[in-house]
Amino acid sequence: MVSVNQRRIPRKRTYLLCAPEHFSVQYVINPWMDPTTPVDVDLAVKQWDRLRETLLGLGHTVHVLHPEPGLPDMVFAANGAFVVDGTVYGARFRYEQRTAEAAAHRAFYEAEGWRYVAPTVTNEGEGDFAYLPEAHGGTILAGYGFRTEVSAHAEAQEALGRPVVSLRLVDPRFYHLDTALAALDDRNIVYYPGAFSPAAQQVLAQLFPDAVLADEVDALAFGLNLVGDGRHVVLNSEASGLATKLAAAGYVPVPVELGELKKGGGSVKCCIAELRH
Ligand code: ARG
Repeated sequence: MVSVNQRRIPRKRTYLLCAPEHFSVQYVINPWMDPTTPVDVDLAVKQWDRLRETLLGLGHTVHVLHPEPGLPDMVFAANGAFVVDGTVYGARFRYEQRTAEAAAHRAFYEAEGWRYVAPTVTNEGEGDFAYLPEAHGGTILAGYGFRTEVSAHAEAQEALGRPVVSLRLVDPRFYHLDTALAALDDRNIVYYPGAFSPAAQQVLAQLFPDAVLADEVDALAFGLNLVGDGRHVVLNSEASGLATKLAAAGYVPVPVELGELKKGGGSVKCCIAELRH
């Protein structure tokens, strides 16, 4: 039974996506990628289209970035930057196969007149950063251990003027923060504790006592790689257990199929960067 103070109110969002026209799995930079498994690009595009339409159907604004040949992971738009209150903290990719994506994102933001802060250290944008505008006055959660350098957390704090809480990721299957933790709304999160170091788990429990906790099955189904607007939670359809949990907490799960993109090691959230004015 959902109580009155659990009434979930959606807030309109602005998102940036990039179509998987050139998606493929040619190299291995995370444990999910296997170049011997065939990828159906047409199906990937169809599934991605459904994701875009779902976001539009929920009333959100969607911008799209032009996909570039030779950048097969560019569909994972979350990694291109991290935007808080009109300021863009740019990305700097760990692996050279994705390096050129940062410039494509930068060009988008500069053409749109955003304030862009170029990074000096490795960080993979919203893959490793999440923002909770109403948690403790505005809190950034940041992951490190596989991709983003912990020193980028301090750089993001300087660029964005919000406290950054560093969380160490310890399981290579959950190599980006957004594979193990997500904002459900402006103040609450859902996460899989096992992806984090014991100390990081303690920090999360202290800051987010009301968080929804996911289990390993939810996490392996890429359930945590979700996007919430305060009411609706768009998540990978395979994560049915997590969908039930979220519904019990008063959210409305909106499942989408992204099986092709999962072969690259990503799902809903990886495909979406949020533009926060
Ligand atoms: N193949 C991509 C990589 O390993 C997947 C990125 C997923 N993106 C994300 N935000 N977790 O870099």
